[in-house]
Amino acid sequence: MKVRINGIAINYAERGLPQGTPLVMIHGFPFNHSMWDAQMMALPQDVRAVTFDLRGHGESDVGDGQYSIEFFVDDMIGLLDHLGIRAAALCGLSMGGYIALRAVERHPDRVRALVLCDTRSEPDTNEGRVKRAATVLAVKQNGVKPFARQFVPTVLAQTTLERHPDVAERVRLMIEGNSPLGICGALLAMAARTDTTPSLSAIKIPTLIIVGEHDQLTPPASARALHERIPGSAFVTVPEAAHLSNLENPSFFNEHLVKFLRTL
Ligand code: MLT
Repeated sequence: MKVRINGIAINYAERGLPQGTPLVMIHGFPFNHSMWDAQMMALPQDVRAVTFDLRGHGESDVGDGQYSIEFFVDDMIGLLDHLGIRAAALCGLSMGGYIALRAVERHPDRVRALVLCDTRSEPDTNEGRVKRAATVLAVKQNGVKPFARQFVPTVLAQTTLERHPDVAERVRLMIEGNSPLGICGALLAMAARTDTTPSLSAIKIPTLIIVGEHDQLTPPASARALHERIPGSAFVTVPEAAHLSNLENPSFFNEHLVKFLRTL
């Protein structure tokens, strides 16, 4: 389904009872809402689960390609308004986690729980920003396909690459489904994101932190730092998974997600 929010057509999908516990799942960079398919299928009917494509990704409009984590938050809040959801549990993976953390900082009344997957609160280092600029240039010069080829092995565990080539193929296709403009816009948005670390101690809602044991982009140490700073948060390490823990070990991930949602 599509809805116009902040001048952009945003693509979204919904499952579960309208009166169920609202859960909005926010995908990582540079994927789309289908990265949550295995979770959508596994969630009980009493969870009103929503996934959507961030601007510049999947089937949402690309717009002018000038993005900010702030705009991603605005779009998500616009989607909550459209769906008549006052406050939702937010589940964000990596860039989705950056968005969830900024959303709870800006709109604490709209967030009733957090699931932070393979993410961190710190902004990019200078070295990271320079690397983003190089990636923008490479995508502009060479297109999305070479970028997708080199990115896939960095987000998946060796066991996933060896035993689940279908997962690697899905990830590659998700990346290739995005335009260079969308990918570059998201890279610049991530490079310019704020540091949400100072507000972690103010998070008083139920929070689950999940990380793949082999995640190298947002390693377990970053997830543990979130756990230590967010009062009362729970922490789970996903075996046989790297950065895309929900795709690499969906049964383990789903078990812990559902268990957490049951406590709300
Ligand atoms: C993601 O998975 O969303 C990105 O890899 C995060 C990042 O590059 O910082």
